[in-house]
Amino acid sequence: MGESATLTLRGESYELPLVVGTKDEVGIDISRLRAASGAITLDSGYGNTGACTSSITYIDGEKGVLEYRGYPIEVLATHSNFIETSYLLIFGELPTTSQLTEFRQLLTKHQFIHEDMRHHLEGFPPNAPPMAILSAMINVLGCFETDLSAADDDAHFMKQAARLMSKIRTIAAASYRKSAGRAMNYPRADLRYTANFLHMMFSNPFEPFDSDPVIIDALDRLFILHADHEQNCSTSTVRMVGSAQASLHASVAAGVCALWGPLHGGANVAVIEMLRQLIDSGQSLEDFVASVKNKDSKTKLMGFGHRVYKNFDPRARIIKEACDRLLDKLGISDPMLDMAMRLEEVALNDSYFIERNLYPNVDYYSGIIMRAIGIPTNMFTVMFAIGRLPGWIAQWREVRTNPTSRIDRPRQIYTGAVDRSYTPIAKRDSA
Ligand code: SDX
Repeated sequence: MGESATLTLRGESYELPLVVGTKDEVGIDISRLRAASGAITLDSGYGNTGACTSSITYIDGEKGVLEYRGYPIEVLATHSNFIETSYLLIFGELPTTSQLTEFRQLLTKHQFIHEDMRHHLEGFPPNAPPMAILSAMINVLGCFETDLSAADDDAHFMKQAARLMSKIRTIAAASYRKSAGRAMNYPRADLRYTANFLHMMFSNPFEPFDSDPVIIDALDRLFILHADHEQNCSTSTVRMVGSAQASLHASVAAGVCALWGPLHGGANVAVIEMLRQLIDSGQSLEDFVASVKNKDSKTKLMGFGHRVYKNFDPRARIIKEACDRLLDKLGISDPMLDMAMRLEEVALNDSYFIERNLYPNVDYYSGIIMRAIGIPTNMFTVMFAIGRLPGWIAQWREVRTNPTSRIDRPRQIYTGAVDRSYTPIAKRDSA
């Protein structure tokens, strides 16, 4: 018998086996706890609870470490590209030239959406939230692609992954063009993933359009940095829906909805709104930080804090550097960046944030890069979803190819009313 933990409960002792990961993380396996003791554990927000073992992404929150399949995020953000990193996440290995070529060819082959899907797009009101459109259209896509391949068949799954990754881009760009009252752009076969997306977003029929390589590179890196993040809220949603053996489309559509929340992927929009409000109101940073520290104000410093990172989010560092480079190369001076840097300086020197280990997270500077690229604010979280899709696909596949996977079904402790007798409505009304 391997290492174990001993739990003493109401005079009884229970041996609970340990699960030790490849980075020496220790998990106490409580899968037999209720059968043995009648008790369950409670952990609101799952801050101390592992839902699974996984071999995809590793985070050390205390040290600010993030690795995809064992490769440090800094290395991938410097030397890789989004499609190569996506392949790594989904299939576990960096691709060979022929594997990468095959994956890219599938992305190009499957970049169009069925023409009938345009009617669904037309049905949304002009100001429909892009994340609502994205989630709905991914489920619509599932109506047109019913040949759901087996997750454990590499060749078939590569096609399914490429189809979804390619079309999410086409759907996102089409939803933006519709909201802007402009004709949808068809994808081009001669452009790679990120350049093609920018073409579909911004090109006009009556003039040549080629994105600045600096912009393409910045967005491609942004996608790499968002590609996976172990068991965050939206990925856990994708895994939970997938554990019921729902389709990849249904699981990803659910993940889009979870990511939309302002405490999660929606924070990149909330950061810009916060900075805009500070600039427009002229409120001093000291006053704003004081309101953040005053719980009654319910004001949060958006883009700060993280459930796992109790140090700098490594992605925030990389994005901040990329932000400086991009704005410098484009000759852009953005008051938002200046304000963000000043606010970061004030917060990082304030005991409230220091004591709570609150540092900038991935969302703090990402919006400023997207503004420089010309992405409209209401599309920021859609960008996050495009970047996160390969991670969702990889995590969904991990659930569906694990022979020991069971449907996720958490327990609870009931604290409601007990032993009540039914009172007929006539008596209730006269009471
Ligand atoms: C993402 O999980 C992931 O991996 C997510 C993500 C990914 O890649 O998938 O990294 C992407 O979602 C990044 C986070 C984006 N969200 C925000 O920037 C929103 C602002 N941040 C907070 O809402 C908060 O920090 C969370 C939601 C990110 C984390 O919340 P936790 O872990 O539940 O932390 P908590 O609320 O328990 O905070 C602990 C203390 C509290 O104060 P006390 O009760 O101890 O006095 O820190 C305070 C909180 O009030 N606090 C903040 C704060 N974040 C935490 N106070 C002010 N501003 C903040 N941003």
